[in-house]
Amino acid sequence: MQAQLEAIVSETESAVPAIRTRPEFDAFKARISGPHGSLTQAMKAVGKLPKEEKPAAGKLVNEAKRRIEAAFASALARIEDAELAAKLGDPVDATLPSPDDFAGSAHPLTQTREEICRVFHKLGFTVAEGPELESEWYCFDALNTPESHPARDMQDTLFLPAGTVAKDAPKKGDEAYIMRSHTSSVQIRAMLAGTPPIRIVAPGRCFRRDTVDATHSANFHQVEGLWVDKSVTLRDLKNVLDFFVREIFGSSVETRLRPSFFPFTEPSFEMDIRSPNLGRLSGRWLEIMGCGLVDPKVFENVGIDPEKWSGLAFGVGLERIAMLVHGIDDIRHFYANDLRFLRQFA
Ligand code: PHE
Repeated sequence: MQAQLEAIVSETESAVPAIRTRPEFDAFKARISGPHGSLTQAMKAVGKLPKEEKPAAGKLVNEAKRRIEAAFASALARIEDAELAAKLGDPVDATLPSPDDFAGSAHPLTQTREEICRVFHKLGFTVAEGPELESEWYCFDALNTPESHPARDMQDTLFLPAGTVAKDAPKKGDEAYIMRSHTSSVQIRAMLAGTPPIRIVAPGRCFRRDTVDATHSANFHQVEGLWVDKSVTLRDLKNVLDFFVREIFGSSVETRLRPSFFPFTEPSFEMDIRSPNLGRLSGRWLEIMGCGLVDPKVFENVGIDPEKWSGLAFGVGLERIAMLVHGIDDIRHFYANDLRFLRQFA
């Protein structure tokens, strides 16, 4: 019995290192411990031994079984490693240059935003920011926008359920929170945070309940501008905006300020541009932004003396500028993340 078991163990231990594949392993294992396997036979033979021989024989069988199972386990681990390696293929060297023939680049809206900020930086403007989730006070009240103004309508502005947020609202309590519908709220934040002179541009995301089409998106971007100083005039407004437009569209661009209305500027204008270099839009007057001189009531709302200080403000649509600069005819391209579109701006 002992000799027979030793033969089985040594057969297993010497055969196992040569086994390479799972079918080979399964076949070999069946020969040893399958229903008709040699180990199985030996175990059955123990049952037929006289009672007094059983304990010693059982011990020998158990020891043989333990060694055989250990040999099987090591073979199986080796086979599984080989299978995994085969699945993973050749090792990858992550330090090699990419085989793709294009480099990543900033999104066209990011590029345009940076370009606009760069232009205003030349004129001494620094970048300011404000939250996208905004209280009605910053977005409308402080900006002299009456309760009945259509912009405050639920049809145009995205309101949050009452009581959602109420941290830094000046009029705590019953105040509504909204997704800001323009970046003009950052004018208010900048004037409350600092003292004049103030010269900031504030790029940011805005939200409106617009139906999406080629020129409208419920989610778009503006760059707000604010300059508060001693005796800022309409002439400054025109000079600053003309400089900006020439830097972006080239020196052949013409501009005009067309009278308009905003609750927070007085007088208010819309600036139009006309250029011979705008493809199918060449030679046409195109509106690009709202602007004006800061309304004295806005100064009063933020504790700046309108007798001492004056200011100019403007708000330009980032998508609008990027579309004109690049000849893009549908605003939805900006948000589709189609690489065929995005790669053109690399
Ligand atoms: N906030 C205005 C808009 O969204 C633009 C604007 C900004 C007009 C600053 C005047 C001054 O249309």
